[in-house]
Amino acid sequence: MLEKNAEYQVTIDNFGANGEGVAHLDGVAVFVPYALPAEKVKIKIVKVKSSFAFGKLLEVVVPSESRREAVCPVFYKCGGCNAQHIKYGEQLKIKSQTVADCLRKIAGIDVTVPLTVPCENEYRYRNKLQLPVRHTAKGNVIGFFREGTHDVVPIDDCLIQKKWCFSLIQAVKLYIESGVDCYDEEKNKGYLKHVVAREVGGNLIVVIVVTENKVKNIDCFIDVLKRSFPSFSLFVNYNPRGDNVVFGKEFRLVYGEEKTVVAVNGINMPMGPESFMQVNDEMRDAIYERVEKLIGSNGGTAVIDAYSGAGFLTALLAKNAAHAYGIECVKEAVDCADKLASDNGVSDKITNICGKCEEVLPDLVKKLSREFESVSVVLDPPRKGCDSSVLFALLDAKPQKIVYISCNPSSLARDLGILTGKLFYYGNELKKSQIVNGEYEIDFIQPFDMFPNTKHVETLVLLKRRIEN
Ligand SMILES: C[S@@+](CC[C@H](N)C(=O)[O-])C[C@H]1O[C@@H](n2cnc3c(N)ncnc32)[C@H](O)[C@@H]1O
Repeated sequence: MLEKNAEYQVTIDNFGANGEGVAHLDGVAVFVPYALPAEKVKIKIVKVKSSFAFGKLLEVVVPSESRREAVCPVFYKCGGCNAQHIKYGEQLKIKSQTVADCLRKIAGIDVTVPLTVPCENEYRYRNKLQLPVRHTAKGNVIGFFREGTHDVVPIDDCLIQKKWCFSLIQAVKLYIESGVDCYDEEKNKGYLKHVVAREVGGNLIVVIVVTENKVKNIDCFIDVLKRSFPSFSLFVNYNPRGDNVVFGKEFRLVYGEEKTVVAVNGINMPMGPESFMQVNDEMRDAIYERVEKLIGSNGGTAVIDAYSGAGFLTALLAKNAAHAYGIECVKEAVDCADKLASDNGVSDKITNICGKCEEVLPDLVKKLSREFESVSVVLDPPRKGCDSSVLFALLDAKPQKIVYISCNPSSLARDLGILTGKLFYYGNELKKSQIVNGEYEIDFIQPFDMFPNTKHVETLVLLKRRIEN
């Protein structure tokens, strides 16, 4: 029987789903963050549950060949990234293995997953930064949440962020020093709560999230930002809620342009503070290029871009299709997508629909199947994956190709299981089926390293209808 605070020396057997090492003690799986398979490590048990436990890594006694020194000074404290201690080539192998394991364990799909496509920049690749600002007993802090907590680990820079991260943090510190009070989570009091920034085509879109519906010392912040950033837009977002949701509904522009236009692959893309954009420009372009190739060119095909964000991919897909339909639930992103279509002279080939995919897609895919020679669908859902009604509608309408872009191997496995007939619902429960020839089969699968030095991976999949159908 494992006891909290007991110390052991163990050998790590394999990786857990969240990238931690897993050892077995008395038949109980013990999850040890930062430990690697085959390593001998000293651990302290920090949490014991009925069938598993968590251990804290105290010392690496015999290191894995895959281990390296993490370069960030706060790597083991902060929850921003979690794989810096693994050699980069090994990270790519682990990510491919994670995708293959999820598909096999969750959906019973056995498929060879090729090596994850590397990112040229292992560091300094993120174009989006989100920093909590807090008032604590130790004073005001800006940084990242320690994983699984709301303790802010103070930082001056972050190596996976673009270089402007350092200058922005300095600017926020000067703004705070000008007399702005920071949010105290315990008392649910204090003005400045978060700073969110994103670089789009050389312009920095900065949002300060505040708890009172007013601006404070904003000219001072604008002045300090001007010293470091030649081009920026500044928004104040009012969010009085005490929960984990970062943005409130209202964005007030206090400096710069409302929308930032960026040119990518010959398409001008207007972005606002709320529009979703992939965090890694290099890998985004590589994935979109591949999506275009997978969908192919057919003047008689209608393409549905489900979960379409600001509509950039929709516009790319429209180039080679009869018509492209974007479905996105955030109104601001849909407005951007409409502007994108008109700025690029492709409005007549694009319809952007503001709504939830689960409500819009079922009727749309049926209607388009009647009206067009063929239909292809791109799915790019958030981490939780697709609503089952979306998947059932696809199984019903049977579009020719389905391209799935996923940032979560677990929800990807579940959704592919349903689309390939390997999983079926028995009441509310998903069960593995014995069906060998489902409606769709995986024709192409490729992970991309959108998030180097973290446990996360982006996976691109092409599903094709089986020939005999
Ligand atoms: C992973 S992003 C993909 C965005 C876009 N395809 C891109 O590459 O920039 C997922 C998008 O789905 C939107 N979204 C989330 N749930 C949705 C739903 N149920 N229906 C429609 N859109 C949704 C989000 O607002 C977000 O823009």
